[in-house]
Amino acid sequence: MISPVRWQEGALVLLDQTRLPVEEVERSCRTWPEVADAIRTLVVRGAPAIGVAAAFGVVLASRASGARDADGLVADLEEAIKGLGATRPTAVNLFWALERMRRVALEHRTLEPEALGRRLLAEAQAILDEDVAGNRAIGAHGAGLVPAEARILTHCNAGALATAGYGTAVGVIRAAHERGRVALVWVDETRPVMQGSRLTAWELVREGIPHRLIADVAAASVMQRGLVDLVITGADRIAANGDTANKIGTYGLAVLARHHGIPFYVAAPSSTIDPGMADGGAIVIEEREAAEVRGVGGRQTAPAESPVHNPAFDVTPAALITAIVTERGVFRAPFRFSA
Ligand code: MRU
Repeated sequence: MISPVRWQEGALVLLDQTRLPVEEVERSCRTWPEVADAIRTLVVRGAPAIGVAAAFGVVLASRASGARDADGLVADLEEAIKGLGATRPTAVNLFWALERMRRVALEHRTLEPEALGRRLLAEAQAILDEDVAGNRAIGAHGAGLVPAEARILTHCNAGALATAGYGTAVGVIRAAHERGRVALVWVDETRPVMQGSRLTAWELVREGIPHRLIADVAAASVMQRGLVDLVITGADRIAANGDTANKIGTYGLAVLARHHGIPFYVAAPSSTIDPGMADGGAIVIEEREAAEVRGVGGRQTAPAESPVHNPAFDVTPAALITAIVTERGVFRAPFRFSA
């Protein structure tokens, strides 16, 4: 199994996703600022994966703390939680995982710092293990939505790399493939930073799942020609009413799918649901640096002077979503997610 995030001998080891598919290189993080930097620079990315990485970042903060008492340690952890939470604003899994670590720290603050550190490590490992188990359940539920000989279109990377393992949208594809139902996966390149072509295609090659890469601009055409049976994507944050933030371009695919009468599915763990947010209007959309749009793979493709708008995510209204698959089952409209 692809394990993009793991704990080994006191360090968080990340498969560096900025180097794929050309090189498989790991990066070890030994301090929480190194973890924050890895999240910010997309060494580790994908909503569940950044939550897991951040949880281990809190573990690293507990180990680095020189505090002699609980109050000092909790203050050091709060600083790390704040720093890790400032890396990327859209994926709610990041804040969910940090909140879970904070709660453990506060509940066990009477422990000796070393014992509290061990408890935090157990919690981070539990977040990782639960994510993999949840993804397998998402795969099993979602595979039931996939017809025989399915041609599936997916966007960005909601695969093993974007999680602790197995994947969400790609987990559904994986499970459907195991059941012999996948004829072809259409893989959107996913401009500007190519998570589709660099990461999803890499995973599908490794798994031997039949696929074909397309430029994002080809999605409308393959749908129009009747070559897509369903679309499935991941999510970074799902509001209580089902509005879903995901990689920029997802909304456009949902509009296209509706126009062509193609089901549009979202697959995500419950940790991606933000029941406190009534609808998608208040979701903060990360704006990333201009260089991502002015170039491809480090090569400049636009004038350095051209101003850029680079939202990393968009919000798909619930009305365009056929069903949302979580580890708890398949949910259909009207969506009403609660805590
Ligand atoms: O900017 P990224 O690569 O972190 O964006 C990732 C996505 O949009 C994924 O679809 C989403 O996080 C779900 S991953 C299971």
